[in-house]
Amino acid sequence: MCMISLAGQVGLITGASRGIGRGVARCLARHGMAVAVNYSRSRKEAEDVVEEIRSWGGKAMAVQADVSVRSEVEGMVARVESAFGRIDFLMNNAGIAVDVPLAEMSDEAWDRVIDVNLRGTFLCSQVVARGMMARRRGKIVNVSAASALRGRMKGANYCAAKAGVLALTKCLALELAPYVQVNALLPGFTLTQDVIERFGLHDLEARRRLVESIPLGRLADVEDIAKGVLFLASDLSDHMTGQMLCINGGSYMG
Ligand SMILES: NC(=O)c1ccc[n+]([C@@H]2O[C@H](COP(=O)([O-])OP(=O)(O)OC[C@H]3O[C@@H](n4cnc5c(N)ncnc54)[C@H](OP(=O)(O)O)[C@@H]3O)[C@@H](O)[C@H]2O)c1
Repeated sequence: MCMISLAGQVGLITGASRGIGRGVARCLARHGMAVAVNYSRSRKEAEDVVEEIRSWGGKAMAVQADVSVRSEVEGMVARVESAFGRIDFLMNNAGIAVDVPLAEMSDEAWDRVIDVNLRGTFLCSQVVARGMMARRRGKIVNVSAASALRGRMKGANYCAAKAGVLALTKCLALELAPYVQVNALLPGFTLTQDVIERFGLHDLEARRRLVESIPLGRLADVEDIAKGVLFLASDLSDHMTGQMLCINGGSYMG
């Protein structure tokens, strides 16, 4: 029986209309947190997450914003603070990948991936941290990736953005201490629709080869990642800041 309670707390999870963000929003709401479910285009999916949480008696709202656009981030944070009173927890999860070999990578593919993954994390953290610092309390989790540490074929833009997220995490952890804790979460391959399609994991042979490279013998599912976020959002992690939490089945131990 898990005794973690997030009752009375408010969280904003970016990119929560599907995949890892959706799993985290459901998990934190199950533990009592009121959650703001951010999306940029997938309104119906975000509203479905909200409806499901409300059907259990939880508190949730959908909030649209492209995290790479300052005016939209400021509008989103104002709407959440107005509806729920404040933001105690921020998860910078919204992310995209546009995998292309370096020789063929366009400026647009480079800029868009850096903008959503890195600039989005900077903007949301800066805007949300104002309220957290004023209240002298808060926790931020930035989603990086195992590939930020080991690199990936066709992923120069993505790996550079996610490595930038790690450096940003450490700078924020220093600047916002001692009031706000900032940690990074590094998932390995996690079974989301996006990953299944991008890496051809409908093909059982491709999936078997990938699983063989994971000491714990399986890919992560979103609940594995959500459990790590639950730890980072709760008082169990009260003496952690500027750290990396790697959840990858042992596939990278660097
Ligand atoms: N799955 C993995 O194996 C894995 C491994 C390592 C790291 N990660 C990281 O974990 C995070 C979630 O991954 P995922 O696999 O769950 O991805 P996903 O299923 O593709 O979901 C991405 C989410 O981000 C939102 N989003 C995209 N661009 C946005 C923007 N500009 N502004 C606001 N929201 C935006 C999407 O909503 P809209 O459709 O509304 O745009 C969606 O809710 C990402 O940062 C990813 O890089 C994933």
